Amino acid sequence: MVKLDPWGSSQFQDYARLRDEFGIEPMTPELWMDLEQPHWLLRRGTVFGHRDFGVVHDAIRRREPWAVLTGLMPSGKMHLGHKMVIDQCIDWQRHGADVTIAVADFEAYATRGFSIEQARELGIEEYVKTYLALGLKPQAAEVYFQTTRARVKDLAYEFGLKVNLSTMRALYGFEDSTSIAHVNAPLMQAGDILHVQQERKGGPRPTLVPVGVDQDPHIRLARDVATAFRVYSVQVAADGRPGVFLKGPGETKALLDRAERILRDLGFGELKRNDAYKAIYVDGATRADLQRVSLALAKAESAMGGHGFVQPSSTYHRFMTGLDGGKMSSSRPMSAVFLGDDPKESEKKFMAAKTGGRASAEEQRRLGANPDVCSVYEVYHDHLARQDDKYLSTVYTECKTGKRLCGGCKAEAWNLLKNQLKEIQEKKAQVTQAELKEILSYE
Ligand code: TRP
Ligand code: SF4
Repeated sequence: MVKLDPWGSSQFQDYARLRDEFGIEPMTPELWMDLEQPHWLLRRGTVFGHRDFGVVHDAIRRREPWAVLTGLMPSGKMHLGHKMVIDQCIDWQRHGADVTIAVADFEAYATRGFSIEQARELGIEEYVKTYLALGLKPQAAEVYFQTTRARVKDLAYEFGLKVNLSTMRALYGFEDSTSIAHVNAPLMQAGDILHVQQERKGGPRPTLVPVGVDQDPHIRLARDVATAFRVYSVQVAADGRPGVFLKGPGETKALLDRAERILRDLGFGELKRNDAYKAIYVDGATRADLQRVSLALAKAESAMGGHGFVQPSSTYHRFMTGLDGGKMSSSRPMSAVFLGDDPKESEKKFMAAKTGGRASAEEQRRLGANPDVCSVYEVYHDHLARQDDKYLSTVYTECKTGKRLCGGCKAEAWNLLKNQLKEIQEKKAQVTQAELKEILSYE
């Protein structure tokens, strides 16, 4: 069995298997094909899986409000792998999302031994400035710190009501020796994810969490917590009939009346209500129908003062392979291309990267090389070719057929990458206090 460890350092290879084992859905083309200029990370399958992305896709098509929430732990320098998350956030701004990004200073404190001051400082200097340099638009984005946002901490605390230790053990493999602060970190992350659906941030609405696949346990937790606090359960019942069900005690009649009204307003006529079962059946409702109903009822719950959180959606991207063939990670400097490093230093690392090349030039010319296992090709694929499919396929074919040798191929990639890094660094140096002030929130 594969294990997903959000704090681990393993590099997965078999993403399809990972997806199937955890019930992650494949990111099929009908989910993004009709978007205006879909991002290359989607088109090329780097974003390979999702949960409930269809809800977000619907919101985009209907031009309804939707949110993106993600977070990064300030535990080292930003590298190309981190850039992929921010690239996606930036692109979703173009598709109507309001974007919120958590600086996970609490998580760095609880799981990596950083002081909160260190984590905050690193968060601003290394992370937030780079987000702006990469092109995140401060007008439609907000960055905050876990430790200064009281309502996120309050949610984390409250979510503890519905989560027990055995769930946490099953999700994360926590041991008896795990500190409670560490146990609390995933609840804080659920707080991050769901707080954007509070009234103050726009109320219940489809919420996308773009992350690396190691974060999936956190997503499952946040989705379960969202459901646990709902008054109405919108689902397909055990007998196969879709409907709206009241979960707890309370004013059955008044609550069902309210749900019935909302269902009729949404245009569902064929309702079968059964007060004794606390149920309103909506026979024939599709999954998409139920998601629409759930959102409408969540809004009503929120208006009644509850947590009307709809389950967040997620997308998962593959990890960048490190230059050394493992996972790209800031804890192994030789594996990573850091966005802020002096290009001269990175050049050496890059030129020494593991490739899919052959033992000799002669052999490579004769037999071709293997871009599918090449960390340099991955950099072309995820960062250099951008929307230029023709260029990417030229690199691919030339590699496969032996027309391209690794030395020249690396030099070509490095030249492009160096320019990108230079641009990011120049922009980062020009980030103004006013821009920082616009994007950062301390409450
Ligand atoms: N756990 C994430 C990481 O290790 C950071 C994070 C904190 C996050 N809160 C989040 C990610 C909310 C997505 C959504 O980098
Ligand atoms: Fe990788 Fe380029 Fe060598 Fe092919 S030619 S294996 S893409 S470095």
